[in-house]
Amino acid sequence: MKKTMKSTATLNNGVEIPYLGLGTWLSRGRECEQSVEFALRNGYDHIDTAQGYDNERQVGNGWKASGRPREDIFITTKITNSNQGYDKSKLSLEKSLEDLQTDYVDLLLIHWPNISDFQRSIDTWRALVDLQDQGLCRSIGVSNFTTPLIDRLLREVDVVPAINQVEFHTFLYQKQLLEDCHERGIQIEAYSPIAKGKRFDHEGLQHVAKKYERSPAQVMLAWCLNHDLVVIPKSVNESRIIENADIFFDLDDDDLQVLDNLQPQTRLVKGAGSPPSWEN
Ligand SMILES: NC(=O)c1ccc[n+]([C@@H]2O[C@H](COP(=O)([O-])OP(=O)(O)OC[C@H]3O[C@@H](n4cnc5c(N)ncnc54)[C@H](OP(=O)(O)O)[C@@H]3O)[C@@H](O)[C@H]2O)c1
Repeated sequence: MKKTMKSTATLNNGVEIPYLGLGTWLSRGRECEQSVEFALRNGYDHIDTAQGYDNERQVGNGWKASGRPREDIFITTKITNSNQGYDKSKLSLEKSLEDLQTDYVDLLLIHWPNISDFQRSIDTWRALVDLQDQGLCRSIGVSNFTTPLIDRLLREVDVVPAINQVEFHTFLYQKQLLEDCHERGIQIEAYSPIAKGKRFDHEGLQHVAKKYERSPAQVMLAWCLNHDLVVIPKSVNESRIIENADIFFDLDDDDLQVLDNLQPQTRLVKGAGSPPSWEN
């Protein structure tokens, strides 16, 4: 069925996540508040933030200013590395909820796997499971997990993550990870879905964009939707927030194939500290 701006993906625990959300990494202060308010007043139902973005208060303010009822919108936050561990992550969510000015988040993620001490990520996951049972988050997931790390987690725990939020765009087509997550019932959420605006001048992308009379950003986002990914493009610019929502169109199989094969395939977000050993 054709997706619209109101379409949602059903997670493995039955929670519905809007396919389109607003990213907020590097959105700060008044600009962050205004962009969140603007997005929520213009059809977006989903905002992505993180403890590490230092803007949960501004996201909460932007939501409040929009006047949207809490139950109409979907808010994600993430446990930052320094807050991992069973007790610390539970405590840190209290602060996130206070800043976001809400009683619960819709999705709570482990922001990065702790590679040097994976037990800490397992303990964090157990905290997330308990927080979900307490109703403080409606769904739980991971971010920046490779398949070996997901499987390592799954060997230790019973609850399967609902989401794996990873860098994913036409210049980082993680086909194998997508298949692996799909097999395990995990929805992929694409971050940096327009490759941070750094690849718009690529000739092949431009060619497809011209054919559909769309911008390269819109084609990149439509490609994600055609692969059934949730997308969270970031912008603090009103016209680009609107542009990034006009993405619910089908791409022909031939064009999808062209976009699947764009080169070079490069990762833009390497991760801080000791990131996972990426497969590409
Ligand atoms: N889990 C993680 O580890 C992780 C890592 C990275 C990102 N994320 C999440 O994913 C979100 C999106 O990723 P991202 O912020 O890295 O990159 P992105 O959404 O791919 O790109 C954002 C950049 O593109 C610009 N832009 C936005 N729309 C545009 C358009 N239509 N035309 C031209 N330029 C445009 C933005 O500038 P303006 O704001 O000036 O428009 C910004 O500089 C983040 O904000 C964050 O919420 C998560």
